[in-house]
Parts: sequence; structure tokens; C-alpha cells
Amino acid sequence: MHTNNSNDNHSNDAPRSDDLILVAGGNGKTGRRVADRIHALDLPLRVGSRRSAPRLDWHEPATWDLALDGVTAAYIAYSPDLAFPGAADTLGAFADAARRHGVQRLVLLSGRGEEEAVVSEDAVRAAYPSATVLRSSLFAQDFSEHFLLGPVLDGVIAMPAGDVVEPFIDVGDIADVAVAALTTADHAGGTYELTGPELLSFADVAQELSRATGREVTYLDVSPEEYAAGAIAAGVPAEEVGPLTDLLTRVFDGRNASLTADVERVLGRPARRFSTFATEAAATGIWDLPAQEAV
Ligand SMILES: NC(=O)c1ccc[n+]([C@@H]2O[C@H](COP(=O)([O-])OP(=O)(O)OC[C@H]3O[C@@H](n4cnc5c(N)ncnc54)[C@H](OP(=O)(O)O)[C@@H]3O)[C@@H](O)[C@H]2O)c1
Repeated sequence: MHTNNSNDNHSNDAPRSDDLILVAGGNGKTGRRVADRIHALDLPLRVGSRRSAPRLDWHEPATWDLALDGVTAAYIAYSPDLAFPGAADTLGAFADAARRHGVQRLVLLSGRGEEEAVVSEDAVRAAYPSATVLRSSLFAQDFSEHFLLGPVLDGVIAMPAGDVVEPFIDVGDIADVAVAALTTADHAGGTYELTGPELLSFADVAQELSRATGREVTYLDVSPEEYAAGAIAAGVPAEEVGPLTDLLTRVFDGRNASLTADVERVLGRPARRFSTFATEAAATGIWDLPAQEAV
């Protein structure tokens, strides 16, 4: 559900060509799409990451001043996860730096139903009260660009999720909402809960991925311990396995098993369906197997 703490309504303050928009995490899953949209709008864009120029590293506050210099609006996709230990301190300090630099709009990507993410949101809002917070559901693109890609290719999605249903969201929708919040003042102080348009279990998702890939993809309900062991074997960095397993185990208790209309409220159109995502992702070849495995 949407809440907006702003008393101002500046629907007419259209983005100006001298605005400079920083997309922190701008080559990641959401940031890349936010950056593409800003570019398409012909607005000045700065991508912030460890590989950008100027460089932005969450662990090196000395890089923040150059990254924020001259910036009008900033999008934050914190990596690896704003719910992980230490993130709140970093994000609070970055939001404070943004305020000192005169950044006029700050948009934070957060996670829906995650207590630890709320700690990070609070740290950002303490330094920058009019920040817009986008609490997102699990990404559909986790199956094509992130930690669930390997399982899809292997044909078995093992998760500690029982038969919980989730409102998976297409990250393109998150990017569209983020751009609206970055380019107008209408969303200042707002907190949005971004969901897809339908509730799907992992078994439903596996069925959809089987259709899209033309191969059998199954869902396997596993214990948290089994999940952690599998994540280590799959190469997830050791320091991330514990927090990731904890997070997944807790959020798959049904707390996010509801839909909101926030995407449609902001964008004036419904959120994209998982099946649309799956069809389009399959067409990119991301789920194709090497020739010898495909037989
Ligand atoms: N996955 C989900 O389902 C989900 C759901 C809800 C919320 N979220 C939240 O989404 C956020 C991640 O967003 P995303 O998925 O769009 O990003 P992402 O794909 O994880 O990537 C973000 C980019 O951050 C950069 N990065 C990594 N470490 C960095 C560092 N130390 N300093 C500066 N930049 C760094 C990387 O680029 P370089 O290598 O160039 O530095 C990377 O491409 C997390 O906070 C997570 O909690 C995720």
C-alpha cells in the first residue's frame, strides 16, 4: 500500500535538461533499466558503481563526494542487500552526504516484508526525510539474471519456501516507478509496496518456466540447511549464504502473500505478468543450454 508523507505536490515540475541523475548500482538488475530509461528521456545520467567514472564504492565513503557532485536526483540499489548487516549505517551516511550535496530527490530500493530492510529505510529517512522508498517483492529476474538462474538451467529450483505464494515483480516495473520518483516531486516521502499482478507459488513458477524454456523445470521444497548447502555448492559467496538463507526462510512465511495496486497507481497501467517476463527472457536465449546438454 502506498503512503506519501509529502505535503508538497509539484506535479508540474517536469525534469529539466540540467538535472543530473545518479543511478547507484546502475549496471545491476534494476539500475541498468533505470539508467536506460533516463538515457531514453535524454536526461543527464551518471552511473555509480565500482567500475564507473567517477567511481562509487559503498565501502569507501571517500568516493561518495565526487559521485554526488552536481547531482539533482539519485536512485540507490544497494549491493549486495540492504537487509544485510552493516547496510543501514552505510545507507544512512550516504543519504546524509546526498542531503549535504543538495540532492533534491532520493529513491531507495528496498525489500517488502523485511524487518532489516526497514532499519536501512529508517537510517536513510533520518538523514533524508523526503526519500521515496520502493519496497519490492521478489524479482522475476532473479530467475534469469541472479541467484535462481543456475537452478533454472539445472531444471530444479530448490527453495525453503513450502507452498507459499509470492507476487513476483518484473524489474522493468520497478525501474518505471523509480524513474517517476526521480523525475517529479510527486512521490517525495512516499513508501510504495511494489508487487506483480498475481500470486504464484514456486511450483507455479516452475510450471511457467517449463513452458517458456520447453524443458522440465521442477520445484523442490528444501529445509534452510539444505538450501544453504546448495547455495555454497553453487558458489554464492560464503559471507552471503547465512544472511540470504535467514532472509529467505523468514520472508517465505506468507507475509508477502498479497497484492498491492501501487505499480498501477504510479504508472497508470497494470504490473507485468510473470508469463510475459518468462516468454521474453526465454527469447533472449538466457535459459538456452550449451549444445551438448540440450539433446
Ligand atoms: N533480488 C530480489 O528479489 C530483491 C527483492 C527486493 C529488494 N532487493 C534489493 O535490491 C538491491 C539490489 O538491487 P539490484 O538487484 O538492482 O542490484 P544488483 O543487480 O545486485 O547490482 C547492483 C550493482 O551494484 C554494484 N556494486 C556491488 N558492490 C558494490 C559496492 N561495494 N559499491 C558500489 N557498487 C557496488 C555492482 O556493480 P559494480 O560491480 O560495477 O560495482 C552491481 O552491478 C538489494 O539491496 C536488495 O536488497 C532485491
